[in-house]
Amino acid sequence: MDEKTARREIVNIGRLLYERSYVVSSDGNVSVRLDDGRIVATPTMICKGRMTEDSLAVTDAAGRALGDRRPSSELAMHLLIYQERPDVKAVCHAHPPHGTAFAVAGLAIDQPILSEVILTLGCVPLAAYGTPSTDELTDAMRPLVKHHNALLMANHGAVAYGTDLWQAFDRLETLEHTARIAILARLLGGSKNLPADAIEKLINVREAAGYLGESARCQACGYLHETQMTCPSGDRPAPTSYYDQSATNGSGKIALTREELVELLTQAVSRGER
Ligand code: 13P
Repeated sequence: MDEKTARREIVNIGRLLYERSYVVSSDGNVSVRLDDGRIVATPTMICKGRMTEDSLAVTDAAGRALGDRRPSSELAMHLLIYQERPDVKAVCHAHPPHGTAFAVAGLAIDQPILSEVILTLGCVPLAAYGTPSTDELTDAMRPLVKHHNALLMANHGAVAYGTDLWQAFDRLETLEHTARIAILARLLGGSKNLPADAIEKLINVREAAGYLGESARCQACGYLHETQMTCPSGDRPAPTSYYDQSATNGSGKIALTREELVELLTQAVSRGER
């Protein structure tokens, strides 16, 4: 992509991020890697809803500023993603409220609850907390970047990336929408995971269509473990699932609904009668 188009698209995406409340104040940052390897990025401490094409910073491939605008303090996170993923040309970091709620609760968005999300995004793991703009954050993210197209960062926010800025934005939006649906389903009593055979079919469809490659098989962890395959992100700590959290309160106590308790007691009584 050329610099003029990148500047226009970053301003448009910044406005969308702000209007959709994925960022407030000067939160978030966006960048595009140009065809010549330079990076056009949002400058530090600017409201993403009120940028102009002239506001943006340009750096070389190593993140050194090429003009008088200071790039985002989180440019190192963008550079990490560009290094690990030669296919990626754009990065979008924001604090969308539902996705960030997962990150604050210490939860990955990793449950296979929506067919469309398995097809287009896959699992969104949670990177351990690291101080923003330092190596702590990029070190926590490094093992995850090559397997996933979007990540949560503990107690911080979310980042998504793609072959262009619209794909990066769409992935961020899918992450946020999924987190919102998961939270709503939880209020309705809990979501049901898709069964292993349905996940397998979706993975076959997405790989045949080229939506996602084999390295993105993380959302299907349950399926992979059942079939003794190795999860490609096995080098990361196992994410906490919100199902695990819904079942226990962290002290080892088990929480059950009234219906589940009645069912258990009924079974125990009928076993005692035999
Ligand atoms: P910058 O303004 O430096 O890009 O930082 C914004 C942000 O979201 C920090 O998490």
